[in-house]
Amino acid sequence: MADSDTIVDAERFSPDVPARPQAYDLKGSGALDWGMQSRLARIFRPPANRTVMLAIDHGYFQGPTNGLERVDLSIVPLLKYADALMATRGIVRTTIPAASRTPVVLRASGGPSILRELSDEQIAVSMEDAARINASAVAVQVFIGGEFESRSVHNMTRLVDESQRYGIPVLAVTAVGRDLTRDARYLRLATRICAELGAHVVKTYYCAEDFDTVAAACPVPLVMAGGKKLPELEALTMAYRAIEEGAAGVDMGRNIFQSDDPVAMINAVSAVVHESLKPRAAYDQFLRHAV
Ligand code: R5P
Repeated sequence: MADSDTIVDAERFSPDVPARPQAYDLKGSGALDWGMQSRLARIFRPPANRTVMLAIDHGYFQGPTNGLERVDLSIVPLLKYADALMATRGIVRTTIPAASRTPVVLRASGGPSILRELSDEQIAVSMEDAARINASAVAVQVFIGGEFESRSVHNMTRLVDESQRYGIPVLAVTAVGRDLTRDARYLRLATRICAELGAHVVKTYYCAEDFDTVAAACPVPLVMAGGKKLPELEALTMAYRAIEEGAAGVDMGRNIFQSDDPVAMINAVSAVVHESLKPRAAYDQFLRHAV
């Protein structure tokens, strides 16, 4: 029962103090619903709104990739250093501790293996299941220029429609396939199509020339994909340049979990992304901490 004899008159109204605006300043996200913004804010660390996403979803088409043979042994110890984890629902449910504080970006498209045409994907997870698993976003592959281009775009737009109902953002992954180039002209085309059709975040590869135009032309945050394993200094240099040229973060897999010291590497990447540490200094940090 209410304890009415201890109620005191409310008086802290501060009528002379204007209400503080609570605008969300992640690129292109200011008009989204609160739930969508809240999930994005879990992934993109305020106030700079940058992220180090750890991608471990490779098994959905590659099977047990080098470094992901035992996710419990190789990845779980890295979770606390990542701002987000990109993974499949199979790995999340079987292997990721429910007590992990790292937000999940859930792989939501799939179908073909590396033995078949990769662009032949379907939606592989319902938004309802993404909500059930407490995903902070879902990820869908978009194959601009690929054999099944239209269907992969349609996969994304269907997820975007569902995302509006559930308040779960969609990350579109621009997949370059085996034969497509990764120059700025192509990446501008692919990333812009994804954003125009409703993706809340776009993942793309880095290109050495004019990546800044790719980022500038994309009205939502871009995260840089890592790609194949590079020497650590090269990977850190690529991440540094992508951030300097407009990316809001990275979504790296092999360059972290295939490193000789994945903990030292993810911390070096994090220093580049969150502290703008120069590549050489980040590499020196990696060498100091590597065991
Ligand atoms: C591939 O399609 C997946 O989305 C991977 O998550 C992505 O390629 C990132 O991993 P990596 O940095 O190893 O290329």
